[in-house]
Amino acid sequence: MGEFGNLIRNIISTDNFISMKKYVHHKGVSTYKHSIEVAYLCYKHYKKKERKYPLKDLVRAALLHDYYLYDWHHTGEGHRLHGLFHPGKALRNAQRDYGELSKYEVDAIKHHMFPLTIIPPRHKIGWLVCLYDKLSTIRDYRKKKYK
Ligand SMILES: [Fe+2]
Ligand SMILES: [Fe+2]
Repeated sequence: MGEFGNLIRNIISTDNFISMKKYVHHKGVSTYKHSIEVAYLCYKHYKKKERKYPLKDLVRAALLHDYYLYDWHHTGEGHRLHGLFHPGKALRNAQRDYGELSKYEVDAIKHHMFPLTIIPPRHKIGWLVCLYDKLSTIRDYRKKKYK
């Protein structure tokens, strides 16, 4: 396993993370797959040049940004309400399952839905998770089939 594999291994092997395989994130893509993809895109971005922020926090924040652990298609809440509330839910679940999160991780998870949620991220890591989450989602919607 390479460096990326080593960074994600502890989290992606937990039962709750694996349970995201059964939650559809969008268009046939599981929340599990989506979360790993966003983490990988952030990792690739980090590797392009010297960075001042911690790689570990970037990858963990990306992995856990959608750690809300339910299928939002089945909640009856609709997309907009899910969009507003799932960052808080993801953060609480992540803190419960993985202990204390760094300020970068908290910021990134909480504010990744900006501009739908009004407060933007404060740190670079938060902006990257926010950006690559959107790029990954757009990519998924453009693919015919992706599993
Ligand atoms: Fe999200
Ligand atoms: Fe996401």
